[in-house]
Amino acid sequence: MAKLPTIILILTLLSTCNTYSNGCYTSIISFGDSLADTGNLKQQSTHSHVQAPHFLFPPYGETFFHKPTGRCSNGRLIIDFLAESLGLPLIPPSQGSNTSMVTELGQGVNYAVAGSTALDSSFHEARGVVNTMTNASLGVQLGWFKESLPSTCSTVSECKSTIGRSLILMGEIGGNDYNHALSAGKSIDEVEAYVPFVIKAIISTINELIDLGAATFVVPGNLPIGCSAAYLTMFYGSNKVQYDNSTGCIIRLNKFAEYHNTLLQTELNHIRELHPEVNIIYADYYNAAMQCFHSPDKYGFTNGALKACCGGEGPYNYNLSVACADPSSTSCDEPDTYFNWDGLHLTEAFEIL
Ligand SMILES: *[C@@H]1O[C@H](CO)[C@@H](O)[C@H](O)[C@H]1NC(C)=O
Ligand SMILES: *[C@@H]1O[C@H](CO)[C@@H](O)[C@H](O)[C@H]1NC(C)=O
Ligand SMILES: *[C@@H]1O[C@H](CO)[C@@H](O)[C@H](O)[C@H]1NC(C)=O
Ligand SMILES: *[C@@H]1O[C@H](CO)[C@@H](O)[C@H](O)[C@H]1NC(C)=O
Repeated sequence: MAKLPTIILILTLLSTCNTYSNGCYTSIISFGDSLADTGNLKQQSTHSHVQAPHFLFPPYGETFFHKPTGRCSNGRLIIDFLAESLGLPLIPPSQGSNTSMVTELGQGVNYAVAGSTALDSSFHEARGVVNTMTNASLGVQLGWFKESLPSTCSTVSECKSTIGRSLILMGEIGGNDYNHALSAGKSIDEVEAYVPFVIKAIISTINELIDLGAATFVVPGNLPIGCSAAYLTMFYGSNKVQYDNSTGCIIRLNKFAEYHNTLLQTELNHIRELHPEVNIIYADYYNAAMQCFHSPDKYGFTNGALKACCGGEGPYNYNLSVACADPSSTSCDEPDTYFNWDGLHLTEAFEIL
């Protein structure tokens, strides 16, 4: 089966690190949302009154872990494959098995929380959008990391060298700033005006981490949201959107994602100029996914790339009021032949490519 740029990215990473003898990176520090959450929202919700999210129930996790783990997929996420390829164990969520935080860096800590945004909740609340899943924005996640430092290292230079040996996975983050606002009924034009603010939040977080000693980043861009079953369903039957005939995706929303990605890459280039010693790898999730939408069969997605494996039926097997894992949802028999897992998230089959 054809291989995608995600795996090429990992091979590039492995070949660029020869500084450290026993494996290049001693840990992974991860920030982001549901595309990287390995159990933080699960922990938060079991220790709060917030209703348990649907992805804590089967068939989530059926493919690899054989039980729900808090990952928004049938199986593993890109962060899991990244850890494996670097010879590291699966990266634990920062919200420990208790309400307490994992404070030791060890071989990695994952601060990503499903539902989180790049911008603080106050930005969205000022615009009438309340986050019902989590307020653990990127700034909150960075705060958790900084609070953990005293138990990981004792001097500034020791901290810098520890963080410098870590691979920082920065995202994907920002997608929910748009998802939540669009779901709340805001227009695409209005939400597009958030993009520069979202990019600024990501870039300032990267700069703070560089000041703390970070030397290697993987920064994923946004996915082609115009191809997601959730948006295809939201706009279904609307004459307001045009479709790309070769993929079936919504052109306007993919242009939106491209705009985010272009601005992100421009700002990453500025950081590279200012800090030539820092290695920043842009992870092109957008084009990796687009290859699947253009040639689903070539990558083994014989059930197409647009329809979700698990969901509430309808043309894309997605229904906002019948989420995957709800009693009346349906789940496909062969998730490996689907690109889209639950409407918004991807199957392990994509992540493994
Ligand atoms: C949970 O945390 C409390 C206090 O921080 C500690 O006494 C207890 O042993 C912890 N339990 C587990 C299972 O880690
Ligand atoms: C986020 O904070 C707002 C108040 O600022 C609150 O209304 C909301 O319930 C919080 N969301 C979660 C999931 O805790
Ligand atoms: C896409 O398909 C529609 C209907 O089948 C057609 O009217 C339109 O011209 C096509 N657009 C392009 C760019 O091929
Ligand atoms: C979504 O599911 C609900 C509940 O089963 C149903 O009433 C509604 O018609 C469905 N919506 C679509 C677009 O299929």
